[in-house]
Amino acid sequence: ETATKGGYEHYMYKEIHEQPGALRRTTQSRLNTHAGGVELEEFPPESFADVKQVHLLAMGTSHHAGMYAASLLNSRGIPAYAFMAGEYSVIKPPVTPDTLVVAVSQSGETADTLDAVRRARAAGARTLAVTNVVGSSITRECDDELLIRAGPEIGVAATKTFSSQVTALTLLTERIVEDVTGAKSPEARDLMEALSRLPGDVQEVLDTSMAREIAIEYEGSDAYFFIGRGAAHPVALEGALKFKEISYEHAEGFAASELKHGPLALVTPLSPVFAIFTGHEDEATLSNVKEVQARGAPVIAITSDRSGEVTEFADHVLRIPDTHPDIAGVLANVQLQLVAYHAADLLERPIDKPRNLAKCVTVE
Ligand code: G6P
Repeated sequence: ETATKGGYEHYMYKEIHEQPGALRRTTQSRLNTHAGGVELEEFPPESFADVKQVHLLAMGTSHHAGMYAASLLNSRGIPAYAFMAGEYSVIKPPVTPDTLVVAVSQSGETADTLDAVRRARAAGARTLAVTNVVGSSITRECDDELLIRAGPEIGVAATKTFSSQVTALTLLTERIVEDVTGAKSPEARDLMEALSRLPGDVQEVLDTSMAREIAIEYEGSDAYFFIGRGAAHPVALEGALKFKEISYEHAEGFAASELKHGPLALVTPLSPVFAIFTGHEDEATLSNVKEVQARGAPVIAITSDRSGEVTEFADHVLRIPDTHPDIAGVLANVQLQLVAYHAADLLERPIDKPRNLAKCVTVE
């Protein structure tokens, strides 16, 4: 077992460090940085030309990747909705023949996601599986598949597969936009360049992260909160999910805009707040930072801080390289993976096999 952990104490830590390689495989031969386009050999030209709306169905971490993709698609004018697959199964699927249903599942075996996709298909939707596992059940249930190529993941808490899911879904988003509108999005060229730099940027986070110091500083807090807007909202949810899964500490993620509508009542000097800045809507998130600080909460900003303004207000900064705002969330998430890992490690939790949780849930 030591051998397969490659000298790391836990699979999770190993898999966090495997992300540069995983992302290289996810994007390999799919990026055309020269033309600013995406090349997905699975899909011939105009494959998505008829798509009018996109539904993303998934559970757990994969649902957060689905939310991320929905945020990008909506920002480019393609109506998109992320559903928890288990909830999609209790409604009449709101699909039309022009709906593309994207099922996101690392394992390809999650019962709720399989059930939801079957129902969507029966209702007439076209279905596409985004998965890590070749030949998994979801690839047989769906019309098409897009592999994320992250490599095997053993730790129960998903890490590298989230980064690869978000990256693959970002490529899919650009491809859908190109087919639907007949032109590349204005973001495409910069985004493809940023994606080609992403493995190196993740490596930089891994090499320079101060996450362990933050975990030590805030050990023993009452609760840990995570906030973000737009595509940083699912990153906040994912940061909290990782933290609670492996540390067993109380952690919650919120849309930064939601704070005033309830969560602010929970904020005290003993509830550090992790605030995610991606370069989109940073001003608004900064005003939320000031609100929680006024209640005495320490703030840890995850930011590349182009303006210097965030650093001025935050109590601590977990720095990420400057990149395209649409994928900055991947880098922020790596910092949050490391915070969760170190917090759980300090508490000597069984990181690779947290109590009551399974890598793959095959019952509804
Ligand atoms: C379980 C795992 C999570 C995972 C979720 C969905 O809850 O512990 O890490 O995100 O299932 O799994 P899937 O294989 O469908 O992505």
